[in-house]
Amino acid sequence: MPHGGGMRKVRELLPDCRGCELWEDAEQVVPGEGPVRARMMLVGETPGDHEDKEGHVFVGPAGHLLDKALVEAGIDRSDVYLTNAVKHFRFERQGKRRIHKTPSAGQITACHPWLARELEIVKPELVVVMGSVAARSLLGTAFRVTKERGKRVELPGGRPAVATVHPSAVVRSDEFRRDFRRFVDDLRVAVDLLG
Ligand code: URA
Repeated sequence: MPHGGGMRKVRELLPDCRGCELWEDAEQVVPGEGPVRARMMLVGETPGDHEDKEGHVFVGPAGHLLDKALVEAGIDRSDVYLTNAVKHFRFERQGKRRIHKTPSAGQITACHPWLARELEIVKPELVVVMGSVAARSLLGTAFRVTKERGKRVELPGGRPAVATVHPSAVVRSDEFRRDFRRFVDDLRVAVDLLG
């Protein structure tokens, strides 16, 4: 973990991280992306199959949904810093398929210093916390996204944040139209808070 240096240092050191065992099976580490001066940071869970192969955040189905929601909320993806609470793909094999598994509490904790460093470097005015893994990393185990979504909360230390569901939950939803709308509404709250 770098204690000094900027984002370039983070990107240089991340591939060598051995803080947990996820690096062993993943293709590669997937660093956060976006301007280091971004006013808004969005934090997801962990790279998925597509992200692990391509080495970029949110390029699979959840990323496509996120892209649509960002457009609807009036957010330009190139203006925000996008990252994950856990930087390696966690999966189990089912035949040839690699099925996403939620990172464990220990893996979330092990990866937290990287996210903390990204926050220190970018210093976003607002953080959008997407899903329970990002919430656990940034807001603690007692935080409930379903209860607290779509309103201003604060990260430890006081940085303003808005929690919402993870875009992959919307992708899988039986009530897609309703849940997409609610996701966009939460993002709009974040836009309004930024002013
Ligand atoms: N889900 C995430 O949380 N992050 C990604 O980069 C892709 C899917």
